[in-house]
Amino acid sequence: MISNPVSLKAYNTFGIDASCDRLIEINSEEELSEILPIPHKEVRVLGGGSNILLTGDLERKVLHNQIKGIKVLKENDSYVLVEVGGGHDWHQFVMWAVSHGYGGIENLSLIPGTVGAAPIQNIGAYGVEQSEFFVSLTMYDLTTGKDHILLEEDCRFGYRDSIFKGPLKGKCFITSVRYKLTKKHELRMDYGAIKKKLVEKMIAYPTIRDVSEMVIEIRKSKLPDPRELGNSGSFFKNPIVTTSKFNRLIAEFPEMPHYSIDDETVKIPAGWLIDQLGWKGKRIGDVGTYEKQALVLVNHGKATGGELWDFAKMIIQEVEDHYGIVLIPEVNVW
Ligand code: EPU
Repeated sequence: MISNPVSLKAYNTFGIDASCDRLIEINSEEELSEILPIPHKEVRVLGGGSNILLTGDLERKVLHNQIKGIKVLKENDSYVLVEVGGGHDWHQFVMWAVSHGYGGIENLSLIPGTVGAAPIQNIGAYGVEQSEFFVSLTMYDLTTGKDHILLEEDCRFGYRDSIFKGPLKGKCFITSVRYKLTKKHELRMDYGAIKKKLVEKMIAYPTIRDVSEMVIEIRKSKLPDPRELGNSGSFFKNPIVTTSKFNRLIAEFPEMPHYSIDDETVKIPAGWLIDQLGWKGKRIGDVGTYEKQALVLVNHGKATGGELWDFAKMIIQEVEDHYGIVLIPEVNVW
């Protein structure tokens, strides 16, 4: 246990120097049970700190999820059911799966953060979301101290969304997550950047390791490494608009990239909207957008969370004024 008050600078990938009253490391369910119950308004649960923006000091305790480990629970010729500690590093888990020949999550290589945070955000990249391989999780209700198992259908997964961003927001601690991984793989290589890499590398029969390596290369070329430049990946969600609104937009902005979701809705890349308005690579003081991806906000050094949030609000306002679309942050603003 580390005593108070403690800086969270090393615990968030934006590198914001904000503090909390007390930082409590949780290494096991037993340690968690000793601490709980605590009214949820008095605590925050922290994983890898890769999807939060600290806008000021937290006058709360922070529970740092450090529950690690991977266990194979069941397997047959086609699948393996694994249980992973909520505080386990996500990318290490993907690397473990790839090295054992277990497939499904290779497109999610190099995503920063912990396994316990993956369902909250329903992390996704290059055509795959974690929900497709998710089976169940164990969570503790902070206020009651009781544990519960939630199945896939209980979690209400959507695009970068789940019950943990809705009714259960800030109310629980995820101790373990179970995934069903494949032994007979169905590789997912529809994403343009992956297709391009396959041709470049002249790989005719790719393996899950090849896909993982290509995704790592693509991510490294497009996204900043938080160890070198503070960031939280995509800062905003890609907005989803109705088809009728989209038809009006495309008439005015024929170049607008878009992905049809169903008959009624269309997704538009927020990075493109922000880029079009001249914000790519822009910098005000120590806050900016990444030079290669306008959707990623960066801390060039000593930015505060308040400055980052003000910058984000300027972007939201300009996109709304120009396109009539309200961007919603993907990161959790604390
Ligand atoms: N674009 C621009 N300018 C930019 C950025 C993007 O014009 O500055 C255009 C691109 O040319 C492309 C489109 O926008 O036509 C989409 O860009 P990209 O393929 O880079 O993906 P994205 O929609 O910006 C999403 C996820 C990423 C994920 C990638 C790959 C969200 C909010 N972001 O980004 O996830 O890695 O697709 O699947 O859904 C994250 O969540 O932190 C994250 C990095």
